[in-house]
Amino acid sequence: MTATRRRFLGLSAAAAGLALLPGCSGRGPSAAAPPAPGALRLTAAPMRVDLAGHEIPTWGYGTLPGPEIRLRAGDVLRVELDNALPEDTTIHWHGLAPPNRMDGVPRVTQDPVVPGGRFTYEFTTPVPGSFMYHAHVGMQLDRGLYGPLVVEPRSEELSYDREHVLMLDDWRDGVDAHGGHGPAPGPDAGPGAAPGADEDPGDAVSFGGRSYPLLLVNGRPPEDAPVLTTRPGDRLRLRVMNIAADTGFRFAVAGHRLTVTHTDGMPVEPVTVEALRLGMGERYDVLVECDQAGGVWQIGVQAEGRTGWGRALLRYDGSEASSPPAVAERPAELDGRLASYADLLAREPLPLPSGEPDRRFELELSGTQIGGQSYPDADPLPVAEGEWVRISMRNTSAKWHPMHLHGHHFQVLTPTGRGPVKDTVTVPARGGEVTFDFLATNPGDWLFHCHNHHHMEDGMVRLVRYG
Ligand code: C2O
Ligand code: CU
Repeated sequence: MTATRRRFLGLSAAAAGLALLPGCSGRGPSAAAPPAPGALRLTAAPMRVDLAGHEIPTWGYGTLPGPEIRLRAGDVLRVELDNALPEDTTIHWHGLAPPNRMDGVPRVTQDPVVPGGRFTYEFTTPVPGSFMYHAHVGMQLDRGLYGPLVVEPRSEELSYDREHVLMLDDWRDGVDAHGGHGPAPGPDAGPGAAPGADEDPGDAVSFGGRSYPLLLVNGRPPEDAPVLTTRPGDRLRLRVMNIAADTGFRFAVAGHRLTVTHTDGMPVEPVTVEALRLGMGERYDVLVECDQAGGVWQIGVQAEGRTGWGRALLRYDGSEASSPPAVAERPAELDGRLASYADLLAREPLPLPSGEPDRRFELELSGTQIGGQSYPDADPLPVAEGEWVRISMRNTSAKWHPMHLHGHHFQVLTPTGRGPVKDTVTVPARGGEVTFDFLATNPGDWLFHCHNHHHMEDGMVRLVRYG
């Protein structure tokens, strides 16, 4: 294993290095004035993307996913958002804990950015990890308004040779609206998936119920899969991120195992598994030992509980003669051991005091309500600065809900007493229970919501309010 680490930007990131250069000009109609020195400009605008040869209209930040933002811990993130959309927009920095006014939630933390308007986000990013940015107005996230955000540590403890970001998305924008003019859904069947899109058998792991014709990896459908390259003996780092609106994913690499090193950007004791399950908003960093002699291997992405199939390819250098696996070829590893929250041990637990939490909330997740209430007709959850807060959730509905807290990292309670530190945690359906603790150290009004964006739009949101 070579110890030298080579910087390798993810496939989504061709523009990233450039995008961070001071004075780099933005795209889109309102890119007239240069951004402030050191700022990255993101222009939210209508655009067209090519999905396996089919041009479809969507909204995005110029590329799909949007340009990768890559910083080092302690850097200042400075982004000028220009709104070239016909409606209001904002950007939320998913997993980061900025000052409240930079959190990008319209009417809660800022005035929405009106069409033709501009807003500058600026805050320091002390905590390294794999994060995402996305629009936070209505269902805009369901279009192309998202991208990866990586904060590198000042000194990297992991040793690896190459790195790739993989953003997993469910997609229907411009496809269903044009009945049949989009690309074919692929090996739909996502081999092994549940029989019907909206069927919900009692034991299904179902995160959503809408119909999404495509699953994309880094903005590309399975017929035009992104290719990650490697060499025999290399160690890869993958940053896998679920940005879908309505789909939980199973993720595996044929012929290879995954050593989980981080979840939601926060370090855990390494644990080696065959597959990952990612609720919407969750991220996992894994290391992959490329111990095959060569070839092209399927990176399989399967929708949980319904049809849907996405993929990427892992190609060893020198394997030009090998043909890639068939689009629908399903890695057996998808059925292998999953990393469960109970398997994950925080490497940097939250500094919780001893004793008992200062405040507890017990919240039932039922339908799309939290604690029997639907936002905006919902009471804020009051906390005070400095408190140790515990939230316990019991999910009595038939869907799995990935619950996301803005502005904080929380620690999931597991039997080890050292559960993973995360910002998004999936609560299983039909009686599933998850409890987490956080320290109230970031004053403001913060959203706590299901990251199924349909559920969120239906009111599955509460505010955590500092008093
Ligand atoms: Cu990805 Cu309100 O969040
Ligand atoms: Cu939900």
